[in-house]
Amino acid sequence: MLKNLKLTIMKKTLLLFLASAFFIVGCKKNELSDENELLTQKAITNFSENTPVRKCASYEVLQQQLKDDPTLSARLKAIEDFTEKYINRKLEARLVNGVYEIPVVVNVLYNTTAQNISLTQINSQIAALNADYSASNSDYALTPSIFQNVQSGNTNIRFVLDAIVRKSTTTKSFSTNDAMKKSSTGIAPSSPTTKLNIWCCNLSNGILGYAQFPGGASSTDGVVIDDNAFGTTGTATAPFNKGRTATHEVGHWLNLRHIWGDATCGSDLVNDTPLHNVANYGCPAAGHKSTCTGTPVEMTMNYMDYTDDVCMYMFTAGQKTRMLAVFAAGGPRNSFAQP
Ligand code: ARG
Ligand code: CA
Ligand code: ZN
Repeated sequence: MLKNLKLTIMKKTLLLFLASAFFIVGCKKNELSDENELLTQKAITNFSENTPVRKCASYEVLQQQLKDDPTLSARLKAIEDFTEKYINRKLEARLVNGVYEIPVVVNVLYNTTAQNISLTQINSQIAALNADYSASNSDYALTPSIFQNVQSGNTNIRFVLDAIVRKSTTTKSFSTNDAMKKSSTGIAPSSPTTKLNIWCCNLSNGILGYAQFPGGASSTDGVVIDDNAFGTTGTATAPFNKGRTATHEVGHWLNLRHIWGDATCGSDLVNDTPLHNVANYGCPAAGHKSTCTGTPVEMTMNYMDYTDDVCMYMFTAGQKTRMLAVFAAGGPRNSFAQP
């Protein structure tokens, strides 16, 4: 009995509370819409005395839909999250005014203090990549006249330093078995589907670098560059101190093959590059001819040959098209081309 009375009182109090709360909210709402009405009227009056009051009901309709569909608010939230991300352009992979901006994460593995390369050296590598991929490298104009009609010009691919991850290692030199890309023996890649990961470490057997072609596992995606072939300053050592090991490796990462097609007179799947017998080293004399079909002059200054850094300075238009194909809808690196 006493219990029931208590409950009734509680119920009544609750009802009273709810009613007054509703009244307050309702009141506020009315005040607000009155204010809005006034502002709208003012604007309309300013526009024309006789214009009828026009309203767009979109917001009201949305409110009704939110009430009717309990799943709608989550979808709206996802749209807002996306929009905010787009506006802030948080170094996500992105296509800006026709330029593919690739965020770059540099993973530095060092066994000696010298191998813990400086920010200046890292920036020199990013600068070299940007110069080479935009054809604004100072030696671009050295391209022999016979190849000037096939020069790439700006590839519209740009590199932006996103982060540097440093880690000391007891490994004196790494092979090409990807140990530098595992957290247990190196550094795992950061966001590999939207960021280009570059590992800088000491490589064994005189290897300057290696890349993973599109289509591989994202856990090992990116390029590896020897610390003595990285950038243009610091520990970078001639004849590999123009940052072009990275230019070459990133070319592979964007699906370019070696210019000799990795076979005697092989195909690189690009139609504006000449046939090459084999890889060229050092600095071949101008006009060096291939013995392949048609004995064409070899394009030894192409980034996808094996010549010294000062002797490679161009991509072709065909190579540019092949690289950009990876970003297209349905392409293997389309995730890098999203706003
Ligand atoms: N993967 C090639 C190597 O290790 C890279 C050649 C790069 N050439 C250059 N001049 N940087 O030999
Ligand atoms: Ca080295
Ligand atoms: Zn290569």
